[in-house]
Amino acid sequence: MTTEIGKDIAKARALLERGLLVAIPTETVYGLAANALDPEAVVQIFEVKNRPRFDPLIVHLADASEAEKYVGVFPNWAEKLADRFWPGPLTLVLPKRNNIPDIVTSGLDSVAIRVPLSPLTHELLSQLDFPLAAPSANPFGYVSPTTAQHVADQLSGKISYILDGGPCAVGLESTIVTEEDGKIHVLRLGGLSVEEIEGVVGKVVVSTSHASVVQSPGSLDSHYATRTPLRIGKIDLSQYDISSIGVLSFETRYADIPVDHQIVLSPEGSLHEASKNLFAAMRYLDSLKLKVIFAEEFPEIGLGRAINDRLRRAAFKTGH
Ligand code: TXA
Ligand code: MG
Repeated sequence: MTTEIGKDIAKARALLERGLLVAIPTETVYGLAANALDPEAVVQIFEVKNRPRFDPLIVHLADASEAEKYVGVFPNWAEKLADRFWPGPLTLVLPKRNNIPDIVTSGLDSVAIRVPLSPLTHELLSQLDFPLAAPSANPFGYVSPTTAQHVADQLSGKISYILDGGPCAVGLESTIVTEEDGKIHVLRLGGLSVEEIEGVVGKVVVSTSHASVVQSPGSLDSHYATRTPLRIGKIDLSQYDISSIGVLSFETRYADIPVDHQIVLSPEGSLHEASKNLFAAMRYLDSLKLKVIFAEEFPEIGLGRAINDRLRRAAFKTGH
């Protein structure tokens, strides 16, 4: 199968209507999309990504008004968040209706839904008469793609079309929110900060670790991982040959490290800019096949929390 990259909505639509997969841009990361109402289309997502079936998918809608077709109960807190942040990097986990197939939700009685902010994908979703189930368009466990080329680098030959909406503006996956025992829980930190959510619904519980009572089945400790071991925190240059180290920093350039072995995510110290650049930087440093990538720890505020979350999961395998 040859993989084409382009901006042809009619082509993407025709493939999806035939039950095939198409990679789609969103403001967070690229998604690997299929007709969410067709189990035979959705099963291919799990095959192409090598994704375990216990990890449910997010259903993408053109507009918030579509949600009532797929969600049984849309509580007040969810309505407030949807009003404020959709289209945008917010996913709501709510009780599902029966028209959502079990394969999408891994048999759970809830469904994750979101309205992405991307002109091409919005137009595509508006033309389709079904919603799109889409995980991030990367092999399971690896760093998510934030450009069409990232998708092609890993899924070329496995899907026929990548809709190219340019680099993702947010660069981190959506923040996932649900309700459990009368409390609002953040199941995955992401492109919408906890502070912004709390500004609308008050205090929330952050339940993103494996140890949490409420969790996203896909929130594995090791995830978003580079193949090169990644370490977080103080950058210790003494243990390694300088030429075999990669550095991922927030604002600081390290004079001792070769310029092409380090990425400064935001020289101006903007967490938004750092988020947008994070996954491309991880992919680039990984491609150099160095001995180790050192990543700075980010401030635990705003999007810094989500950046640290991704770095920690990427580092988990190495135990640092
Ligand atoms: O920004 C995003 O959310 C991107 C773009 C493409 O929309 N999608 C994405 O999908 O990151 P994925 O599949 O890589 O992550 C979806 C997460 C998984 O951790 C999964 O466990 C969780 O959503 N999830 C899906 N349905 C759920 C449910 N019913 N209950 C709890 N967690 C759920
Ligand atoms: Mg993913």
